[in-house]
Amino acid sequence: LVIVLDFGGQYNQLIARRVRECNVYCEVMSYDTSLEKIKELDPKGIIFTGGPASVYEDGSPKCDKEIFELGIPVLGICYGSQLMSHLLGGEVSKAPVREYGKTEVTFDTTSKLFQDLSETSICWMSHTDFISEIPEGFRITGRTDSCPVAALEKADQKLYAVQFHPEVVHTQEGTQMISNFLYNICECTGDWKMDSFVEDSIKAIKEKVGDKKVLCALSGGVDSSVAAVMIAKAIGKQLTCIFVDHGLLRKNEGDEVEAIFSNQFDLNFIRVNVQERFYAKLAGVSDPETKRKIVGEEFIRVFEEEAKKIGVVDYLVQGTIYPDVIESGLGKSAVIKSHHNVGGLPDYVDFKEIIEPLRDLFKDEVRKAGLELGIPENLVFRQPFPGPGLAIRIIGDITPEKVQIIQDADAIYREEIAKAGLDKTIGQYFAALTNMRSVGVMGDERTYDYAVALRAVNTSDFMTAESADLPWEVLGIVTSRIVNEVKGVNRVFYDCTGKPPATIEFE
Ligand code: XMP
Repeated sequence: LVIVLDFGGQYNQLIARRVRECNVYCEVMSYDTSLEKIKELDPKGIIFTGGPASVYEDGSPKCDKEIFELGIPVLGICYGSQLMSHLLGGEVSKAPVREYGKTEVTFDTTSKLFQDLSETSICWMSHTDFISEIPEGFRITGRTDSCPVAALEKADQKLYAVQFHPEVVHTQEGTQMISNFLYNICECTGDWKMDSFVEDSIKAIKEKVGDKKVLCALSGGVDSSVAAVMIAKAIGKQLTCIFVDHGLLRKNEGDEVEAIFSNQFDLNFIRVNVQERFYAKLAGVSDPETKRKIVGEEFIRVFEEEAKKIGVVDYLVQGTIYPDVIESGLGKSAVIKSHHNVGGLPDYVDFKEIIEPLRDLFKDEVRKAGLELGIPENLVFRQPFPGPGLAIRIIGDITPEKVQIIQDADAIYREEIAKAGLDKTIGQYFAALTNMRSVGVMGDERTYDYAVALRAVNTSDFMTAESADLPWEVLGIVTSRIVNEVKGVNRVFYDCTGKPPATIEFE
């Protein structure tokens, strides 16, 4: 285990992911984790993250100075490097020149941290403070034109620090530096691999669950699918998965999910066909938040009814993944949309405990685990699909006819994107139905039909996104296929808006 001690920087998750990519298990913990706790966990190394504060300000996040006395290697990054210097008697002050962006750093490659690296390389800087005086016993191992201390170390005490961010891709040899820290300095063995994780998890679930019963709400999304299959491999038919088909899924999706789960894996699979019930509840409702709430509440009701038929269960599965765990510890931002996640159903089903088999995994690791478990690739690499489904991709009120229009248009769009070889390169793409009708002409006849909007975005975190630059030719083919093959559509738009100011979904 390596601990990533979080001082509030924006790249904390990225540091953890880089460490895991080096096959070393790590966890992100708050900067105020007690020394006792750290000792008890006995990590092989500790990484201090960056952070927005200044170490010399009152109230800035600090850790116990004794952490440096534990004999555990420490790597301080950005704020972390300044904190290490500050606590050990060096001096940190406001830099005469603020460094931001790609910067050339000259290294002393005799340092274990920079072993086998180039003497100068590009690193990502983002700081307004700098280390103006290093603590006693330290030596400088990296510098830039405007920053005399870009890296420093006290090798006999295994303390290392860098002012730049090795975790971001702009730092050319950053991953190698992190790997050097983990292998040369912390002496990690690198045995955090997906096959052993999956195997160990299955064993642990078997032991924990014994002969008890487990219930899972399966959405067909990546997280709930991987969680379900992992549990199924451990306990087979003691697991029941309930798949609520609310009629707001993509074309043929319900049948596809059923085909995979009822045939390929050993579990009880229940598909509840409640399309009509959802359409009836949603009839005439056009307000986005009301639509979201109706789908969320009705979903819960259906799940509850089905769960009652099964009776008391011991465990309820949740597809929580590691970013959810990290983020739930931070402050809440404004509610833009009331998100509906099919995983979060704890308060109304009769169960004793929640089981979260993916709690320690990042999304890319969940996918790797999915492949390891034999889940088909098209499901493992499925793009995100919102819980309320097509209800938020049909602007205005919902009718079964509109659902069919958008399912067909979206299927054509996805087919053509795949044909053009773009399906793995775009973050998320889908068709939405606007509530606009306009006049057109088809075969000498006047039409008065709907307009479909095509959306394709690139994003790293879905918090911000930019519209994808799709080839005009592909858009042309999609447009002509949609207006020719989908009855009720006579116009197609492409959405060029980023997020912000738009959101990815339309409602
Ligand atoms: P927005 O529209 O907020 O979407 O820019 C960001 C990402 O979240 C997905 N999304 C949802 N996912 N439940 C979900 O599980 C929801 O209610 C929900 N609403 C939006 C959206 O598809 C995009 O990937």
